[in-house]
Amino acid sequence: MKVLESRFAEGFIRMSNDGWLQGWHECHGGNLTYRLTSEEVDDVKEDLCYGDSWVSLPEAVPGIGGDYFLVTGSGKFMRNMTVDPEDSFGMIEIDERGRSYRIVWGFSGGGRPTSELPAHLMNQEVIKRRTNGNYRVVYHAHPANIIALSFVLPLKDEIFTRELWEMEPECAMTFPSGMGVIPWMVPGTAEIARLTCRMMEEYDVVLWAQHGLFAAGDTFDNTFGLMHTVEKAAQMLNLVLAAGGKHHVPSVQEFRDMAEAFHLELPEKFLYEKQ
Ligand code: 13P
Ligand code: ZN
Repeated sequence: MKVLESRFAEGFIRMSNDGWLQGWHECHGGNLTYRLTSEEVDDVKEDLCYGDSWVSLPEAVPGIGGDYFLVTGSGKFMRNMTVDPEDSFGMIEIDERGRSYRIVWGFSGGGRPTSELPAHLMNQEVIKRRTNGNYRVVYHAHPANIIALSFVLPLKDEIFTRELWEMEPECAMTFPSGMGVIPWMVPGTAEIARLTCRMMEEYDVVLWAQHGLFAAGDTFDNTFGLMHTVEKAAQMLNLVLAAGGKHHVPSVQEFRDMAEAFHLELPEKFLYEKQ
């Protein structure tokens, strides 16, 4: 089977285009990676082309050695994913020791993987281990409302998580472990990748202050849904702040009641009494 005939490539393209339609991918902003199952690799093997030009990775990722990933291209526009997929993204294979990668499909115009590849691969390694292989998707986008809040709210996990959880019940259900927050850092570096990895040990979504969101999940639907839920809550919070701030919020007891009803484990550090 051709890569572009596969369900996983269809899901990858659809998710990228959905993000574009949401306005999260101005210019070449944002990037997406997906770790294939071994069955999916076998299904498209006839369409892959194995060269011998391996590219070193800045930090080894032995936990994903031998794995294959769909990866958006650096400088490529999510806007073009549906019209020119073969140029907009590609597939890479990681060597067995996790020290380098090679392109096996795509990047037809001579492109290369996203500049955030260190963050994607190092976090793919973390989430694969943390979820026993269940999580496969890592998504970075530039949604305006959550970025705007990172200019206004204190850059603390406890503050962002609680403020967003209060906006609608879907939030605590979609990211019950909370949201991590890291300060502005130079994009594309091993440093931003490392700090994000520390957060990903605990959270599924991390805010890169004054830059964007970084999210992980098992399926395209759930990862997109997580990004969407955070951004919608941020939009509502911005509306409320513009209207003068919150006057009524769910109480800590109401969060506990919801956690019991929906079998959520909400960390105590987010259930503090507000002044
Ligand atoms: P790339 O075009 O290299 O994927 O970079 C976009 C981006 O959002 C960097 O943070
Ligand atoms: Zn970015």
